[in-house]
Amino acid sequence: MIEIDLMNKADRFAADYIASVKTRRVFPDDAAIKGLTRFDEELPTQTSDPADTLNLLDEFGTPATVTSNGGRYFGFVIGATLPAAAAAERLASAWDQCGSSFVNSPVAAKIEDVATKWVLDILDLPRESRIGFGTSATACGLSMLAVARRALLKRKGWDIDADGLIGAPEVKLMVSETIHITIKKAARLLGFGLNRLIVAPTNHDGLVDLAKLPEIDDMTIVCLQAGEVNKGGFDPFTQIIDIAHKAGAWVHVDGAFGLWARASAAKKHLTTGVELADSWTTDGHKWLNTPYDGAMAICKHADEFAETLNSDAVYSTAEPFAQKNLVLEFSRRARGIPIWAALRSLGRQGVDDMVTRHCEQAQRLSHGLRGIGVTVLNDVAINQVLCTLGDSLKNEALLKSISASGEIWFGPSKWNGDDVFRLSVSSWRTTDEDIDRAIAAIEKALATI
Ligand SMILES: Cc1ncc(COP(=O)(O)O)c(C=O)c1O
Repeated sequence: MIEIDLMNKADRFAADYIASVKTRRVFPDDAAIKGLTRFDEELPTQTSDPADTLNLLDEFGTPATVTSNGGRYFGFVIGATLPAAAAAERLASAWDQCGSSFVNSPVAAKIEDVATKWVLDILDLPRESRIGFGTSATACGLSMLAVARRALLKRKGWDIDADGLIGAPEVKLMVSETIHITIKKAARLLGFGLNRLIVAPTNHDGLVDLAKLPEIDDMTIVCLQAGEVNKGGFDPFTQIIDIAHKAGAWVHVDGAFGLWARASAAKKHLTTGVELADSWTTDGHKWLNTPYDGAMAICKHADEFAETLNSDAVYSTAEPFAQKNLVLEFSRRARGIPIWAALRSLGRQGVDDMVTRHCEQAQRLSHGLRGIGVTVLNDVAINQVLCTLGDSLKNEALLKSISASGEIWFGPSKWNGDDVFRLSVSSWRTTDEDIDRAIAAIEKALATI
């Protein structure tokens, strides 16, 4: 019973935390951060009461959290976790399943199959695609670039699995000037070499400029963006993918958050043509509001996908599209369960409403900010608002003042080499009142700098 008491206590702490989210400071104060020194202990030699560990975590850990699970957090693109997703995650963590394949966990395999169908449906991507529910857009992007490279080499008769890369025909990776850092990380890790990347010039919105599109051939992976990280724009998919496919290239789309614009009837047109690509990555833990770390590698060439990531072992052969053959991990949490739960509880209309509402709230925010003298640098089409006070020192002072206030939080960015700041509306908890509080908090901070 000690275990059950402990779980009840953990659930009580968790419920108290959730109940406090609306009124908590967004960024912890200095006292809470100083309190973290309480964790500076030597590794204990003796076993202790598990409740002591939980108490310590709640007493000194809880106050030092960032309330990114609330409605007044506008940093990065961080959605709060939806109740159904959080609850499903809680139960699944008690199940403690290894979601590698059906034989490890029939329930995990079934639910992730259903989640695959639903994600392809709501994002309106080719239904023959398979999805690996991985840890992050970083890991899933890395996987997809590996799949793409293997496929292009295979078409040239080169077997990268057997013969590696030495002596292989070169596969080139084309990225846009504004590509996310994690694609560059994947490129480095896979040995593409940053100096060998083909960089497609971008326009004033950070989107690939069609008129300046570099040459593409049948040994090129073209990596485009659905949701540029600062201004939130979409590359001209239809035209570029047509050119790329006529040349025999592979097109991958990083849609870590922006792909979810497809779930909004009002915004889907911004993404037209993205469905023509070969592979995509997206996160649940951003705009779908599911827990960390839950992402999706999506590929319409299912066999090539599963062959590249195959990890059948002598003791563990599985059905070809088992999750262990679609993600980097062998043992894994079934990350598709909270994604399934979010989709099931919101339904198609609920996801549409949430995404559309965030876009409208971003508009409300940009109008309010313009009204108090902030320069908004983008036409706010989705949920990103990119701003400046026109001076790096002023921007920095604003960010410092905002962080100290505990009222809201957002972070810095760079645009064309200049310091700027960025607000993203992506939490299901954000209300119009939260948006107005954000504008008021910024106005108050501006008066002090
Ligand atoms: C456009 C874009 N791509 C990729 C990533 C990486 O995603 P993750 O944090 O899930 O690795 C992010 C954000 O972090 C992003 O905004």
